[in-house]
Amino acid sequence: MSAPKLVREIPAARWSHGARSGRVAMVPTMGYLHEGHVSLMRAARARADKVVVSIFVNPLQFGPKEDFASYPRDLDGDLAKCAAAGVDEVFHPEAQDFYPPGFQTAIEVSEVSQGLCGARRPGHFRGVATVVYRLFQMVQPDVAFFGEKDFQQLRVLQRMTADLGLPIEVVGCPIVREADGLAMSSRNSYLSPEERVRALALSRGLRAASAAFAAGEREAERLVALCRDSLRAADVREDYVELCDPTTLKPVSRAEADSRLLVAAFVGKTRLIDNLAVGQPR
Ligand code: PAJ
Repeated sequence: MSAPKLVREIPAARWSHGARSGRVAMVPTMGYLHEGHVSLMRAARARADKVVVSIFVNPLQFGPKEDFASYPRDLDGDLAKCAAAGVDEVFHPEAQDFYPPGFQTAIEVSEVSQGLCGARRPGHFRGVATVVYRLFQMVQPDVAFFGEKDFQQLRVLQRMTADLGLPIEVVGCPIVREADGLAMSSRNSYLSPEERVRALALSRGLRAASAAFAAGEREAERLVALCRDSLRAADVREDYVELCDPTTLKPVSRAEADSRLLVAAFVGKTRLIDNLAVGQPR
């Protein structure tokens, strides 16, 4: 296991297509890496000659009352995980270099950003699309890997890439969960032991809806209600629970196997998200 090269400066077209050979895969992250991130690195390793992981806690995607300042960071631990996953390079820029003084341009993906997290976190997906566009421009990957954990983010970035005609394949990878079903997240580190138990209400609620779908239930309202019941039983405050078309993310009233049930909820002060395809075999 050899250590990945740590790069801090903004590359000047280092990966420019003419100057390199082989396929470059990229995994954008905000660090504090866990098995969910590592699954993306493995998928990238299997599909490319060179794997670049970026670690950058992007100020633009956090609201003024959100957790930018306290977002967990552990560069040494992250580098060890990248090394173990066979990553070639870790790109870890400084915020002042990434967004130089006077920076004022943003990428706005309108429709698919509107509902769900977009409605609750104004400006969030503008910040995500802008940082990922800049990362793509700096690293110039052929393929980039994102988790379905952030399902709306994946759809926003696929839309952006298609609309701007970027020569990059955006691949979605399945959600990695703890043994008890909790979707892995850097923010799980905020949970107290008692909250960690209550946080299971999200995945349990999704599973209850998926079991009802398997038993023949097709009414979106009923499936959503099952998920809400699970949140309520654990005293977890709903932000949203919605059944959506898996591509447009518009709400649907009748469920198909690939309809996506998405949940966001507060366990204490910590906001968690999760989702699944209701007809997905589990
Ligand atoms: P971050 O939350 O660090 O996540 C980086 C990538 O890991 C995202 O694509 C996310 O969907 C994926 N991921 C997180 N938890 C996962 C899990 N349990 N299973 C599978 N994949 C998982 O998402 C971001 O950072 C940022 O918004 C970013 C895209 C880097 C832009 O700043």
